[in-house]
Order: sequence, then C-alpha cells, then structure tokens
Amino acid sequence: MLNKKVKSIILAAGKGTRMKSDQPKVLHTIFNKPLLGYVIDAINNTELADENFVIVGHESEKVENYIKNNYSDSKCILQMPQLGTGDAVSKAIPYLKEFDGYIIVICGDTPLITSETIKNFIEFHDNNHADLTIMSAIFDNPKNYGRIIRDKNKKVIAIVEEKDTTPEQKIIKEINAGIYCINWKKIRNAFNNIENNNAQGEYYLTDIVKWAVQENLIVQSYILENNEEIFGINSKVQLAQATKILNRKQVTKLMEEGVQIIDPDTTFISPETTIGADTIILPNVYISGKNIIGEKCKIGPFAHIRDGAVIGNNVRIGNFVEIKKSVIKDNTNVSHLSYIGDAQIGSHVNIGAGTITANYNPITKIKSKTIIKDGANTGSNSVLVAPVTVNENASIGAGSIITKDIEAYSLAITRSPLKVFSNWVKKKIEEFSGGNK
Ligand code: UD1
Ligand code: CA
Repeated sequence: MLNKKVKSIILAAGKGTRMKSDQPKVLHTIFNKPLLGYVIDAINNTELADENFVIVGHESEKVENYIKNNYSDSKCILQMPQLGTGDAVSKAIPYLKEFDGYIIVICGDTPLITSETIKNFIEFHDNNHADLTIMSAIFDNPKNYGRIIRDKNKKVIAIVEEKDTTPEQKIIKEINAGIYCINWKKIRNAFNNIENNNAQGEYYLTDIVKWAVQENLIVQSYILENNEEIFGINSKVQLAQATKILNRKQVTKLMEEGVQIIDPDTTFISPETTIGADTIILPNVYISGKNIIGEKCKIGPFAHIRDGAVIGNNVRIGNFVEIKKSVIKDNTNVSHLSYIGDAQIGSHVNIGAGTITANYNPITKIKSKTIIKDGANTGSNSVLVAPVTVNENASIGAGSIITKDIEAYSLAITRSPLKVFSNWVKKKIEEFSGGNK
C-alpha cells in the first residue's frame, strides 16, 4: 500500500516534427497499436493510478478520438499553443486543485516502458518519502537528452537540456528519462515559477528540479536498469528500432513458454498475442493486434494474422494465408493462399487452397460473417460471400461461389460444366503451320 493516491499526466501535445508525418507522433503505431496506447497500458497495468490526464495539442482531435474510443476513463486536456513540457503539465493544475497525492508524469512517445518499472519507480518514491523523484539512466551516447547534474555529495541539483549544456555538462552520461513522480501539493507551485529563458525559449518541466532543491524539498533519483525502456520515438527510424526491440522481447518470451520459432529475425508477433506450447511458427510470419493461438499449431511460413484471431489447438495456418477477426476451432486446416475474415470456423474443417471469405461490401461498407461448421470442407478457389453459413460436414466443390447457406452433409457446387474438345490443339497447330507454307 502506498501512502498516497496516484494520478498520471501523459504528455502528448507535441508535434513530433522529426516524424515528417501528417499524423500526430503519439498515434504512430507498433503492431497496430499507437505509441500512446503502450504508455497508458503500462500505467494502467500498475493498478496504482486512479486517473490519467492526457495533454493533447497538435492534431488534438485525432488524439482525443483515440482516447475516447479506447481509454474512456482517461481525460484529455488541451495545451494550445505548446510552450514546453513544463507548460504542458501546468495545464492540469485546474483539475488537481484539491489533489493531495502523487503525480506520475510520463511522455506519450516512450512505448517500451514497462508497468513493472513504473510500479517500482512509484514505490521507490513512496518509500523514500520524496517530494520529487526523477528517473535517470546511464547512456554511452547521451546526445539530445537532458543531463542530470549532481553536487559534490552526488545529490541531484538540476537537469540541463542538451541545448543549454556547458562543454563540461555535455560529457555527463547520466540522462533524464523524462518520467517523474511528484508529490503534487509540495511541487505544484513550481509551475508558476518556471521561466523560458533557455536555448529553446520553452517552459521546461525539468526546471522543477532546481526549484525543489532551492525550496529544500527532497529530490531523489531512480536509476533505470534497462535503458531500452525509455527509448523515446522521435523519428521513423526509431519507430522501426522500437518495433524490433518489442518484437525480440515477445518472441523470446514465447520461446521460453514453449513456442518453437524457427527464425526470430523474420518473425513478428505483437505483445498482445498469446501462443500455446509446441506451436511452431515458421519464418516470415507477421502477427499484429490481439490474438489467442492454441497449442500444437503450425503457422506459416508467410502467414499474416491481423487482429482478433482466436485459434484453437492443432490448427494449421499455411503459407500466404491471412486471418482477421476470426475464430478457428481445433484440428482445422487453412493451409494455403486463403483469406479468412470475420469468420467462425469449427473443428476438423478443411479450408481448400485459395478459399476466400468475401466479408466486405465496398458499397454499403458493411462487413458480414462467414460461419463454417464442424467437419465441413471448402474446395480450392471457393468464394464464400458473407453473410453465409456452411453447415456441419457440408462440402463445397472447387471453384464455387457460395451465396446462400448450405445445409449439413450436402455438396454445393457452382462450377461451370467441363467441356472437352478432342484434338482441338492439334488442329490449331496444323492450321497454323499450313498457313506458313
Ligand atoms: C524531454 C526532456 C529531456 C529528457 C527527454 C527524455 C524537457 C524539457 N526535456 O526532452 O530532459 O531527456 O524528454 O525523452 O522536458 N510535449 C507536450 N507539450 C509541449 C512540449 C512537449 O505535450 O509543449 C510532449 C511531447 O509530445 C512529448 C513529450 O512532451 O511526448 C516530450 O517532449 P519532447 O519535445 O520530445 O522532449 P525532449 O526534447 O525529448
Ligand atoms: Ca522526446
């Protein structure tokens, strides 16, 4: 139990100029999930904060919409114009007039932060009865980060931004991770005292350190063990690097849990996918979004599972197969070249090569469901035009286009009759060579 309540402030108003994008930076995604979502989930998973404030500004409507649709318990606060990280936090003051607890401040562009670290950080702050705790890390290349300035007794006395550093400060390797735990009542006055007479003409959140030291408040620092966690995304190069880091963590975890991954370097699996033991993932598989995959399955090579797949045990998802928002029960095969979307597929079903669930009507923009019940099979190249149900043990002939429900144990076939013209080719060849004489 902590001594005080916790709320969070997530900074997400900046433009992210270096992304060179029309999208706000925090809505850029890793495995279909925006950076901001990773940060909010990490906070929520600590189960310590009872309210989140998201500071929005640049393209605020888009960010607000994302929050409304996905985190309805988080509150957006507009910062317009964006005058710096200190100005951003000060926008929350009117909402926290009576608040007597801890505020955790975090940037919306650090998707690799884990809830364990945030939890340890808040508990460290609480155990030390600190008024302000900053998170720091030791970087071999500290470029572009704020530097932690300590006095002779190793006490933290200030944070200096890269652009404001003296040559002596520039070589300091301890950097500001940009995550703070604040004893709100003690520190909130700092925000009226921050000035913008610095290299960037901004109100720096980092200046609350100097202020707290002057006020004789207790300032602590928490040194991060795993530097990767505070990797901030400022460009698309860094976005790709963060994706790799998250992916490596996930495939490693899955292998430790008994999943066989033939080539971790070419296998992408989102953190929100669970996979049962003894499932084999072949190379060049891409799995994004939230999915549950059972035991003893074989996935790939070259399979794409997009989101919302619930796959049972001993299921085969073969090459060039795409699965989206579908349930596939045990012992079913979707072995080659198929698209299965918005479908519910029973057990012991065989989906023939090239089977397509035609789930989307581009005119009405409505997506419909395909249901294929236990024991049914679809012949190669069949198209199931949803909404449609193929009942138990029904068989769909190769090349068929199925537009209505098919009853159990029946054969359905729309194939045009086969015509054979004997010696047709021979005659054509003779005609052709005759003409050349
Ligand atoms: C900041 C820290 C720096 C630290 C680094 C860690 C300051 C002054 N500097 O620098 O010490 O080492 O993070 O990653 O805080 N934002 C707003 N409103 C604004 C400005 C920024 O909401 O007016 C948001 C941005 O959207 C972003 C976050 O604050 O999510 C950090 O801003 P950014 O410009 O990336 O700060 P850094 O230069 O990285
Ligand atoms: Ca940053």
